[in-house]
Amino acid sequence: MLLGVNIDHIATLREARKINDPDPLEAVFIAKRAGASQITLHLREDRRHMHDLDIKRVKDSSFLPLNVECSINPQIIDYLLEIAPHRITLVPENREEVTTEGGLDVVGNLARITEVTQAFKEKGVEVSLFIDTQIDQICAAKEVGAQMIELHTGTYANLHLMLYSNLPSMHNAIESLKLPRNELKARLKDSIESLQSASKEAKWLGLEVAAGHGLNYVNLAPILAIPEIVELNIGQSIIARAIFSGLENAIKEMVQLINASNI
Ligand code: PXP
Repeated sequence: MLLGVNIDHIATLREARKINDPDPLEAVFIAKRAGASQITLHLREDRRHMHDLDIKRVKDSSFLPLNVECSINPQIIDYLLEIAPHRITLVPENREEVTTEGGLDVVGNLARITEVTQAFKEKGVEVSLFIDTQIDQICAAKEVGAQMIELHTGTYANLHLMLYSNLPSMHNAIESLKLPRNELKARLKDSIESLQSASKEAKWLGLEVAAGHGLNYVNLAPILAIPEIVELNIGQSIIARAIFSGLENAIKEMVQLINASNI
């Protein structure tokens, strides 16, 4: 199983101050040292985290293969055709969303997705489509010529969060759904089964299968057990964990600097 590390939120932190720190490129070197197989970046239409230049710098560094997530927006596609990263993952995009909320509607955008897929393939760029588990979307991914799909694990991850986290916001979400815990458990089981059958179907069609969205240190096991899935793209939980696993050293270093001044 390969790990693609999505480092968008390093740039989210940078954008909070609009300066050049933290630099996502530093995270690429660290990810390589730590055993990641790929870097995943999302170039959003609103450039809320990664900018065009970030994509170019990470690609040019050649430290790890680069997978760029993007919408089918013509300006973004033209820019990425120039950059030619190792892989493009086409995702749906909605300006207002906090994060990518659902899978790409390949069936409903067949002509445009075929055109974009062929353009990237001509440049030697692999194409993956971020989709939900419906069989018609998987068949359409094959039809447009994509080599890979990435299954959206958001439904599974949200249900897992509702059932097993103690976050007050999750209690509110459960209340508003008005569903008994047993029903939530049944839905969680269904979400895993649909990821399993979608993975089988995709592999049978000759597509490589990746998965991602909302995966973290406690919900990974059932996804790792799906034999057809060869790659996971994980971002938020790794960057969130890094704040705590690396914060102590960052504070110690600052304390040492202050103490060394002897004032
Ligand atoms: N894969 C895709 C296609 C995504 O859009 C995202 C979110 O940008 C991820 C993986 C990573 O999701 P998360 O940050 O929840 O791990």
